[in-house]
Amino acid sequence: MPRPYIDASHKTRRPRMSMLKRLSFVTEHPMIYRAWQAPFARAKFAPIFRHNDLSQVRRILDVGCGPGTNAPMFRGHNYVGLDFNEDYIESARRNHAGEFILADACMYTAAPEDRFDFILLNSLLHHINTPDVRRMLNRLAGQLRPDGHIHILDLVLPEQRSISRYLARSDRGDYPRPFNEWRRLFSEFFEPIVFEPYSVRWFGCSLWNMVYFKGSPRS
Ligand SMILES: C[S@@+](CC[C@H](N)C(=O)[O-])C[C@H]1O[C@@H](n2cnc3c(N)ncnc32)[C@H](O)[C@@H]1O
Repeated sequence: MPRPYIDASHKTRRPRMSMLKRLSFVTEHPMIYRAWQAPFARAKFAPIFRHNDLSQVRRILDVGCGPGTNAPMFRGHNYVGLDFNEDYIESARRNHAGEFILADACMYTAAPEDRFDFILLNSLLHHINTPDVRRMLNRLAGQLRPDGHIHILDLVLPEQRSISRYLARSDRGDYPRPFNEWRRLFSEFFEPIVFEPYSVRWFGCSLWNMVYFKGSPRS
């Protein structure tokens, strides 16, 4: 007797995950992460160099510093890296100059005399859901000196189908956001000074669409 056809696909179907996303746990290892990011680190950082004179910066907090990817850009400065991943912090301490703190950025408070005039968040917030982004930005606003600035570099989710959109959706971070969503989020906590889209390219091809935000504390 023919068996009745039962469509059970709704029980087994999962959201499709790209191959890159499935492999993303590999890049969590500090050495692999460093090697994967090294060719792109300067390109990601370009707007910071373009809009700021780093020789004027006094004290830097690099939030979500990973294994110290950005530390070489601040050699010779009063640089503090902060991350809640113990392996990354240990690796950063072994390989880079500066102070490295193991802490959750949503909970971190610096003493008033230790506050920062340059707070950097590079490629961090697209790993974090929106309520936690708000908690973190609110907390960090309190760690800035009145004349200080926050500098955020993050991954944009392009609206149109493209390699950049595929790479954004395949990223380890689950929350790449469209340009205007980033703008709204950042502006809730900081007075915007620069809000600039840019892309990280490889052999002429645009790989990642990014945004650079520079903001000052709201009075
Ligand atoms: C994609 S990595 C970026 C690392 C580095 N900023 C860079 O430019 O390569 C994101 C980092 O943020 C850290 N992170 C995520 N949430 C955090 C939190 N709440 N507090 C501190 N670090 C956090 C992760 O451990 C990871 O090292």
